[in-house]
Amino acid sequence: LFAGEVEFLKGVVAMDGLPPDDRAEVCFAGRSNVGKSSLINALTGRKALARASNTPGRTQEINYFTLGAERYLVDLPGYGFANAPLPVVEKWQALLKNYLAGRASLRRAFVLIDFRHGVKAADEEIMKLLDRSAVTFQVVLTKADKVKDKDSEKVLAQVRAAIAKHPAAYPEMVLTSSEKGDGIATLRAIIAGLD
Ligand code: GTP
Ligand code: MG
Repeated sequence: LFAGEVEFLKGVVAMDGLPPDDRAEVCFAGRSNVGKSSLINALTGRKALARASNTPGRTQEINYFTLGAERYLVDLPGYGFANAPLPVVEKWQALLKNYLAGRASLRRAFVLIDFRHGVKAADEEIMKLLDRSAVTFQVVLTKADKVKDKDSEKVLAQVRAAIAKHPAAYPEMVLTSSEKGDGIATLRAIIAGLD
């Protein structure tokens, strides 16, 4: 699947702009700056397919990428702090929530958590929304290259505890580094294996 064509399809700013839900899609959700766009680039092997940057709030639309003819990869705006005017941020947060709660063809949401920081209140809120909407989600820890082994156990325990209390959570998390490539093959296999 990942050896085939990957292309940017469109940026969506309102629910009625979503493409027809005629194929399985996965999305990448997470706090601003957690590494959603970078992960899409790592997965597709295309350095600048999704726009990544150090400015929180870089992705401001729901960006659709086609993966072959049968999958969409969906890059979402971040939640939490963003370097953008408040009314704009509020608009994209509402869109994000409507999307996560109401997209029939969404097979799995990847909820990205910064490995250095663990699960924050805003992550909990999104996980609850996914529980209520019965959208299976899987936690992906990002920026593993920035975490020292001795610091990882505490965060891992906190994340495991969070996963355990959410009915919609897939039990296994994936540790990744878009920078170094850790976990990328695993995540590709997961996406390719979804019906
Ligand atoms: P928004 O679109 O603003 O919500 O952010 P995002 O979640 O899409 O994050 P983005 O991919 O733009 O990455 C944010 C910053 O983190 C960039 O400076 C990336 O280079 C950096 N980054 C992302 N993934 C990794 C990683 O695995 N390791 C390291 N060291 N840095 C990373
Ligand atoms: Mg982004």
